[in-house]
Amino acid sequence: MVASRTVYTLKLKLPWHFHSLQNRIVVRAKARFHLTLSTVLTFLALNALFGLATANVRETEGHLENLQPLVVHPYCRCNEDICQPYVRGIVDITAVLRTAAGLPEGACVFNPAISRLAGNIFCVFARVYIARSTERRCIPGQLDRPPFMDAWNGTLANLLAVIRLRGGRQSGNVTASVLGHRYLKEFNYEDGRLFHDQRGRLFLYLSLPFGKYGGARASVNTVFRVLITCRRIPGPNKCDPHLGPPRLLRYDRSIAWDKNWVPWNGTNMMSYSHYGPFGPHSVFNWSTYRDPVPHARFYSKSNQTFFSAFSKTFGRLMHLSGGTPAILEASGTTYLAVGHMRVHPGCLHPESIPGLEKVLGTGIRVNCGHMLTLDSQVKGSIPFRTFMYRGPDGNMTKHYHVDYGLFLYRFIAAPPYTVTHISHGFLPPSEGHFGIIFPSGLERFGPFGEDYAIAYGDADQVARLMLLTQSDVEKLLIPLLLMEKRISGFSVCTLPFEDNVPALLRLPQRQ
Ligand SMILES: *[C@@H]1O[C@H](CO)[C@@H](O)[C@H](O)[C@H]1NC(C)=O
Ligand SMILES: *[C@@H]1O[C@H](CO)[C@@H](O)[C@H](O)[C@H]1NC(C)=O
Ligand SMILES: *[C@@H]1O[C@H](CO)[C@@H](O)[C@H](O)[C@H]1NC(C)=O
Ligand SMILES: *[C@@H]1O[C@H](CO)[C@@H](O)[C@H](O)[C@H]1NC(C)=O
Ligand SMILES: *[C@@H]1O[C@H](CO)[C@@H](O)[C@H](O)[C@H]1NC(C)=O
Ligand SMILES: *[C@@H]1O[C@H](CO)[C@@H](O)[C@H](O)[C@H]1NC(C)=O
Repeated sequence: MVASRTVYTLKLKLPWHFHSLQNRIVVRAKARFHLTLSTVLTFLALNALFGLATANVRETEGHLENLQPLVVHPYCRCNEDICQPYVRGIVDITAVLRTAAGLPEGACVFNPAISRLAGNIFCVFARVYIARSTERRCIPGQLDRPPFMDAWNGTLANLLAVIRLRGGRQSGNVTASVLGHRYLKEFNYEDGRLFHDQRGRLFLYLSLPFGKYGGARASVNTVFRVLITCRRIPGPNKCDPHLGPPRLLRYDRSIAWDKNWVPWNGTNMMSYSHYGPFGPHSVFNWSTYRDPVPHARFYSKSNQTFFSAFSKTFGRLMHLSGGTPAILEASGTTYLAVGHMRVHPGCLHPESIPGLEKVLGTGIRVNCGHMLTLDSQVKGSIPFRTFMYRGPDGNMTKHYHVDYGLFLYRFIAAPPYTVTHISHGFLPPSEGHFGIIFPSGLERFGPFGEDYAIAYGDADQVARLMLLTQSDVEKLLIPLLLMEKRISGFSVCTLPFEDNVPALLRLPQRQ
């Protein structure tokens, strides 16, 4: 069927914002396989041969390579018309939180929610994991110790803290200090989201999971008032944050995996995140968080064809879901939020499906192009499982059974709250890659609130803030209708640091 030892070199079309004159894009399909391969492989081989595959992106620009960490997923790049968005800095708050709470050296602190209290003082809620064996604990500058690999068999807890962030992007020196904290070890609360309600009171949204991962599992969605008392005295613990009683957010048609709802900061509204397609953009109005109104149906719904087209194109290969709360943009007429996407690793890492790398090579892909022409039954039945891949340091390393990415989206602040823009998937630069990146907070940053900070957890091990400017956000956002036209090219890439980002605002060094 296929001639052996043939090398195909094709120039491929990448989504417009990955284009770069400096990139040489080459696909080598070293076809050396037998007719005995499974149906899946036959499909994949055909895709590769007929140019449906996506590309290996090879960096050829020397100075970029020197300044950037070696990343697993290709960088987002410029084309002739528009230059790429950048990361303006990454602030790691793992160590200050861990130290302030008196947690042992190897405690993982991750998925931080964040919301401003006043000035440069913020409230943070994060997850904590402490492996029993010291050998399995987190190591700064190294992201190969996810709790998943320890079967989540250690201590699970949460940390509620009040922090101060000093400095800004311009000064090149952002430092975090902890003004007070509370260690919550009674429950495993998973990922919280912090936001202010309509009256400016601080709340924590939480999904409380019941049951086991992979088994029968359901979430109960709740909000807790966050109460903070601070004293005007010198010394460390100035502030004492604690949680009020939970309030149930009742939606009668909740499904088992129902979480990642999206609170809108400064309101009593939330978006419901439909598991898989994300849309139709469906909205709750809880009226008040003291006594939330139960919902049997949505308060408002905006059904745009993008979401059904997304679902139809990708099926189980790609899911969009909620991430951070939404915040009002400077115009006052739109909200901005960061969602998280889950991608089948077969889309991005050929190593994840046995035999696929023989057809596609081991290069990391940027989208699911090569998988899309598979028969929908085949497409729907490819299992998700962990795999080993060769990291940038040349060593074999384990990858989670899903690839996560972040995406930005914007919706109108008036009924029916139509989503107008969405970005491709993006990843922060990282010293490791396990597959898990989770966005849990979005805040304004900088003296005039002109920048954004996305709070996220990397590999379930560290708590970080990624700094972006307003213009980076604008460059990432693409009109929803335009994205719908190019839906099969929906991609994932790594944001590079801007050249002049000082070392302090880059990644922490291995210790
Ligand atoms: C969890 O840790 C305990 C104590 O170290 C050990 O006995 C048990 O086998 C571990 N369970 C799993 C699933 O690793
Ligand atoms: C960064 O700021 C902190 C205090 O905010 C200061 O102690 C430290 O020296 C500064 N570092 C640099 C490199 O300027
Ligand atoms: C969140 O809402 C509060 C209360 O309305 C407001 O003071 C704050 O500026 C909002 N935060 C953002 C990032 O918009
Ligand atoms: C939410 O519902 C309350 C009544 O329960 C209403 O007063 C309020 O205007 C609604 N909010 C929005 C944004 O529609
Ligand atoms: C949304 O619209 C699509 C067609 O555009 C339709 O197939 C789907 O059923 C609608 N969903 C809802 C929840 O109304
Ligand atoms: C790669 O693995 C070898 C053998 O385990 C180890 O000695 C080396 O330090 C590793 N390299 C990096 C960069 O981690």
